Amino acid sequence: MTIIECKGVVKKFRTGWTGKFTAIDGVDLEVKRESIFGILGPNGAGKTTLVKIILGLVLPDEGSVKVFGTDVKDYKIRDRVGYLPENPNLPPYLTGRQVMELFGRLSGLSREAVKTRTEELLKEVKIEQWANKKTPTYSKGMIQRLGLAQALISDPDIIFLDEPTDGVDPIGRKEIRQILLELKNRGKTIFLNSHLLSETEMICDRVGIMDKGKIVAEGGMKELTTTSNKYSIKCKNLTPDIFEKLNETASIKSTLDGTFEAFVENLESLNRVLDVLRNNNLLIESVTPAKQSLESYFIDLIKDIREEDK
Ligand SMILES: Nc1ncnc2c1ncn2[C@@H]1O[C@H](COP(=O)(O)OP(=O)(O)O)[C@@H](O)[C@H]1O
Ligand SMILES: [Mg+2]
Repeated sequence: MTIIECKGVVKKFRTGWTGKFTAIDGVDLEVKRESIFGILGPNGAGKTTLVKIILGLVLPDEGSVKVFGTDVKDYKIRDRVGYLPENPNLPPYLTGRQVMELFGRLSGLSREAVKTRTEELLKEVKIEQWANKKTPTYSKGMIQRLGLAQALISDPDIIFLDEPTDGVDPIGRKEIRQILLELKNRGKTIFLNSHLLSETEMICDRVGIMDKGKIVAEGGMKELTTTSNKYSIKCKNLTPDIFEKLNETASIKSTLDGTFEAFVENLESLNRVLDVLRNNNLLIESVTPAKQSLESYFIDLIKDIREEDK
C-alpha cells in the first residue's frame, strides 16, 4: 500500500530581489507502507526541503503530495506523523524529560499517557540517566536520541527522520539503526534523509538518490547495488597462466584464495570465462553477480550526471 505519494513537486526559493532558485525540480515519489525509505544525496540536494513539503511545513509551487491517500494540507494526518528535524531546536530551559512531556501534551495525549510514554521512550533511546538535565548540556548524539524519542511520543505510523545519525558516535548509530528496524517490524513506515550512505545501506529497503532537486535514481537496495556486468567467481587452483588466459577473455581483478572478479560485457563473455576454467579442468565453486556498495554506485552516478552537465 502506498503511504506517501508526491507528483510533480516543484519548489522555488526567492534569491535576492528578482532571482529564483529551484530547490525541488519535479519530484515524483511513492513510498510503501512498513518499509524504510531513504533519500540520499549530497548537501544542498533538496532532501530537507522535500521532507518539509511532505510534512506540509513548506508549500510546493507545483505538484501534489498525499500522505495516507489524503492531501497533505489536511491537518488531521499530522497526528499520525512523527518528525525528527535536521537540527532539533529544543527549548534550552527544559530538561529532556520536560521536552518529552511538552511534545506529548502538544500532540494531544493525556497527562497519564504522556508520563508512561516518556519513561518508555527515554529508556528505549537510552538517555534516561540524562533525563533530568537541561538540553543545552547534551551532546549532539544525545540531542538526536531525544529528538527521536520526541518524534515517537504519539506512536505515529510514519516517522520522518532528517539526518538521524549525523553527529552520533558509531555505537549510538548502531543503536539508532536497531530502533529503526524494530519500528519497521512493528509496522511503522520510516522515511529518512541522509548524506551518510553506508548507514543507509544497512537499513533501507528502498532509496531515492537526489541531486540538485531531482530524484536521479530510485530502486530497491538490491537493484542499486548489483551491477549487471560484474561477476565474482570462485574456483579451485587458479594458476598464473590460466589467469593470463582469462585476462584475454575478460577484464579480471585480483586472485585471493582462488576468488576473482570478472568484468564482462554480457552473459556470452561470462560463459567464455567459464569455458576457459572448465577447459583447464578447474573446479568452479560459485558464480555470483558482484555487489557494488551504495557509496560507489552513488559516486559513479553523480560523476556521470556532472559530466553530462558540462
Ligand atoms: N528557505 C530557503 N530559502 C532559500 N533557499 C533555501 C531555503 N531552504 C533551502 N534552500 C536552498 O535549497 C537547497 C536545498 O536545501 P536543503 O533542502 O536543505 O538540502 P539538503 O537537505 O539536501 O542538504 C539549498 O541550496 C538551500 O540553500
Ligand atoms: Mg538537509
